[in-house]
Amino acid sequence: MKKIREEVQKHYREIARQISTEGQGCCCGPSSSCCSPITRIDINYQDEDLSALPAEALKASLGCANPHALAGLKEGETVLDLGSGGGIDVLVASRYVGPTGKVYGLDMTDEMLALANSNKERMEVANVEFLKGYIEEIPLPDESVDVVMSNCVINLSGDKGKVMSEIYRVLKPGGRLAIADIVSTREVPAEIRQVTSLWVSCIAGSLSVREYEELLTQAGLKQISVTPENYYTREVLQGLGADDTSLTEEQWAMADAAFAGALIKAVK
Ligand SMILES: C[S@@+](CC[C@H](N)C(=O)[O-])C[C@H]1O[C@@H](n2cnc3c(N)ncnc32)[C@H](O)[C@@H]1O
Repeated sequence: MKKIREEVQKHYREIARQISTEGQGCCCGPSSSCCSPITRIDINYQDEDLSALPAEALKASLGCANPHALAGLKEGETVLDLGSGGGIDVLVASRYVGPTGKVYGLDMTDEMLALANSNKERMEVANVEFLKGYIEEIPLPDESVDVVMSNCVINLSGDKGKVMSEIYRVLKPGGRLAIADIVSTREVPAEIRQVTSLWVSCIAGSLSVREYEELLTQAGLKQISVTPENYYTREVLQGLGADDTSLTEEQWAMADAAFAGALIKAVK
C-alpha cells in the first residue's frame, strides 16, 4: 500500500503544482479533452453551484461525476469529503450546510491541501476545514459525520475495505454516503490493471460494480446503489495511459467503455 500511496501522491503533487503555476489541472473525467476544466461541467454540476466558486477552485476540479446530485445536504450538517484535492466539492457543500454546519476535506498531499486552503481563503468561508491524512485512517471521531462524500478517490486506495470500514465508523447512525467514483462494468485484461499511469489516473484500481456493493455491505452500510454514468472510451483511456507501450491493440479494444464514472450511495 505504501508504494501505491507514493505513486499517487507524486502524481497529484505534480498536478497541484501545475494548477498553481499554470492554472489548469488534468482530470480523470471522461471528456475527450482530458485536462480541461470544462469536464467538470460535463459531469453535471449545477450552474449555481459552480458560479459561487472562485475560478481557481474550478480549475482544480479532478472528479468523475457530481456527488452533490446524491448528497441532499441540509443546513447544519457535518460533511466529510475524502480526497478533497483543490477543494471544489468542499466549497460547494459549504453553501448547503451554511454557517451552522461544517465541512471537512481530507487529503494526504500537502500541495493539494495548500491549493484547497487558498481556494477557501478566496471564497471567505468559515465553516470549512482541510485535514491532512489518509482515507484509510480518517482523523475524526466515531459517529461524528452526517454525510461522507468523495469524488474520484477511493479507486486510488490500496486498501478499499479499510476505507469502507472507516466511512462506517465516522458516520452517525442514519448518516449517508454520497460519492462519485470510477467503476469497471465488465471484466478487463489483467494487464490493464498493472499500468501505473492508469492507476494514478483513477482507472486501473477501480472496483467492479459488484465488488463495490460487496465491500459497502461488508462494512455494514445499507440501501446501497452503484450507478455507472459516464463511460470512458478507448481513446480517453489511451490518453491517460499514454506513457505505456506494453498493451496490445486487442487489450485496448477490450478496455473500451469497460470503465465508467459512477454515482454511489448508501446509508448507515
Ligand atoms: C483524482 S483527485 C480528486 C480530487 C477531488 N476530489 C476533485 O474532485 O477534484 C484525488 C485526490 O485524492 C487524494 N488521495 C488519493 N489517495 C488518497 C489517500 N489514500 N488518502 C488521502 N488522500 C488521497 C490525492 O492527493 C488527490 O488530491
